[in-house]
Amino acid sequence: MFNVAQRHKKLERNITLLGTFAFVAVVIGGVVEIAPLFWIDNTIEKVRGMRPYTPLEQAGRDIYVREGCYTCHSQMIRPFRDEVERYGHYSLAAESMYDHPFQWGSKRTGPDLARVGNRYSDEWHVQHLKDPRSVVPESVMPTYAFLAENDLTTPDMADNLTALRRVGVPYSDKDISEAARDLAAQADPEADAGDLETRYPKAQIRDFDGNPDRVTEMDALVAYLQVLGTLVDVNSAAAQEELAKEGSR
Ligand code: HEC
Repeated sequence: MFNVAQRHKKLERNITLLGTFAFVAVVIGGVVEIAPLFWIDNTIEKVRGMRPYTPLEQAGRDIYVREGCYTCHSQMIRPFRDEVERYGHYSLAAESMYDHPFQWGSKRTGPDLARVGNRYSDEWHVQHLKDPRSVVPESVMPTYAFLAENDLTTPDMADNLTALRRVGVPYSDKDISEAARDLAAQADPEADAGDLETRYPKAQIRDFDGNPDRVTEMDALVAYLQVLGTLVDVNSAAAQEELAKEGSR
């Protein structure tokens, strides 16, 4: 015992020795915490139904980010009773696994949008974005009527998907080579959408902004809003099973 105390005394009084040992202790702690993050893919349980965004949805998402919608809207339903009753099933980690950047957050001047998809008609969204107060008189949301005037210009959609693939979103070679075509076809009911729906299950293919002649930024944004929270069927039995698995991890 005496010996240990002696040695500890030595350690405590020698600043170099103490520094070295403290450094080693911190490095071990750091490695234990940080190293697993390099295998983060393994820490998110895959949930059935989750897929990358279609080019049109992704373009809409980019507009959502550009316009700063996230400054008033979160996309993360927390597992609290009041939130679940208002917005629906709480958000699963897998549901935002392909989001770059993610749109979680806690700033809610407006409601959470994680499950707003299919809750309103396209017409409602277009009217609401053009003039929020015409549908919700007390709304403080800004107007975004110009989105319906702007053509959707995304000359680099394939590059956009390539960049996302580099950070882990599983776009196939075909998804990337067909990106521009997929983008236009999803908003045009007249166009041949090819195998868009096979590669992107549950993709909603139609004119979103009420003007079938053009593909506008409004088309893209509404396509994005309409897909939010609709990919994973959180109420089906199969999903429940996977949820149980997620819960037991
Ligand atoms: C200054 C804050 C603010 C900004 C910025 C904002 N919103 Fe809103 N939003 C609100 C408020 C407040 C409401 C609730 C009243 C209403 O429905 O208009 C709302 C409601 C909504 C709803 C209806 C949600 C529901 O469940 O009823 C949608 C959809 C929506 N916003 C989308 C958007 C989009 C898309 C953008 C960006 C283009 C955006 N918002 C930007 C404040 C904002």
